[in-house]
Amino acid sequence: MERSKVTVSEKEIARQREYAAKMRGIIGMQGLAAHIRTYGCQQNEADSERLAGMAEEMGYRITEHAEDADLILVNTCAVREHAELKALSITGQFKHLKAKRPHLLIGICGCMVTQEHRKEDIKHKYPYVDFLFGTGMLYKFPEILYNAYHSGTRSFYIDDTEGNIAEGIPVRRESSFKAWVSIMYGCNNFCTYCVVPYVRGRERSRAKEDILAEIKELADAGYREITLLGQNVNSYGKDLGTGYEFPDLLEDICKIQGEFLVRFMTSHPKDATKRLIDVIADNPKMAKQFHLPLQSGNNRVLEIMNRHYTREHYLELVDYMKERIPEIAITTDIIVGFPTETEEEFEDTLDMLRRVQYDNIYSFIYSKRAGTPAAKMEGQIPADVQGARFSRLLEVQNAISHARNEVYEGKIVRVLVEGRSKTDDTKLTGRTERNRLVHFEGDDSLIGQFADILVTGAQTHSMTGELKK
Ligand code: 5AD
Ligand code: SF4
Repeated sequence: MERSKVTVSEKEIARQREYAAKMRGIIGMQGLAAHIRTYGCQQNEADSERLAGMAEEMGYRITEHAEDADLILVNTCAVREHAELKALSITGQFKHLKAKRPHLLIGICGCMVTQEHRKEDIKHKYPYVDFLFGTGMLYKFPEILYNAYHSGTRSFYIDDTEGNIAEGIPVRRESSFKAWVSIMYGCNNFCTYCVVPYVRGRERSRAKEDILAEIKELADAGYREITLLGQNVNSYGKDLGTGYEFPDLLEDICKIQGEFLVRFMTSHPKDATKRLIDVIADNPKMAKQFHLPLQSGNNRVLEIMNRHYTREHYLELVDYMKERIPEIAITTDIIVGFPTETEEEFEDTLDMLRRVQYDNIYSFIYSKRAGTPAAKMEGQIPADVQGARFSRLLEVQNAISHARNEVYEGKIVRVLVEGRSKTDDTKLTGRTERNRLVHFEGDDSLIGQFADILVTGAQTHSMTGELKK
């Protein structure tokens, strides 16, 4: 894709900021509040931080309570049916708020509504939704809202380009010590089950200067953890044609001054290289963690998923990781019950869990996505068979996760303290470099800092410990 066609011009961004200023002029004094509800992946969370940044620029205060809001925005996900149903159900509930507060504006954005059939659903079945915009229109939020505010008519925008990059959008970060930084958008891989390439467009990389400047700013502001985002970070830079690739970017990021850890997601096994693993091994700022989605442990299934690697290739990468970085924590995504998957083929996936010894897995029951090739495949697996395989998968992995945590008992681990524990607020929760949670007693002043913890107990999904310093 030609750069000029993908990059939103500075003039257009300035035009949007003028709309934001106009909105601020109109609503600035009224003390209005905006509520943003986010579903789905980290990319969506990062997008919501930009939507919140724009809403603030327009004069809205951000509220966590939908009942107090004068503007509600639902940022949706489409990757599985369950995510879509949740977003539709919450949108349905907001109808009652509109009955109580007629001036309330309701908008929907994100991956779900970037699909034509969902756009039509919203148009016809959700008459109280005022506006809708697809993932490629995010930067136009001020203009869209301005029009919704003034016209009183409903509007529905889906971009028909292959995607864009917009720099210079204000951002309101949720955390003052952990930050998402998108390095690229979209995906070219067309795995046969996946809707992402259809709703997020083709791969396009941000310019390295923009990424490095953003991270420098974060490091200067005292951020302790930077997570780089992209559907396939290993493709970073390929569309720029400069020969500057993902490992080069990581090396440059690690040269930035500051005490911070760098994580990234997601990496595709077909494009992960030994050089990438070397960069992680050789740079103390790189978290010793690698998320490498396997999806299936069987070569025939991988082939019909259009994944372009074999289990043997995957294991080679894992062996090299363990050789270069013995303490590495490997995590993965698994789909169970893909069309035509047999019992033996599913067992190949279990076998891979035992061989790799993942610290953690994110497992999903295959969900049929409209418009993807797998949705039309013969041999869809019945829900009860999928469910039974899913339970077996969790059983095998839970034992491995538990054993992987037990290794740390009696050892001191460094954590970034994230906040009060969600299940027991007498404790703090920290995340180790290897992305494991540790609960321990301590003072709120530690939140946002690194701390050393002696691990005293191991559970399946977390550990308990004592603060050392
Ligand atoms: N059904 C189930 N899981 C899916 N994923 C993507 N598409 C589907 C689908 N149709 C999973 C993959 C991917 C993760 C983000 O979501 O495992 O890596
Ligand atoms: Fe979806 Fe495959 Fe692209 Fe990941 S690499 S976003 S699973 S199409």
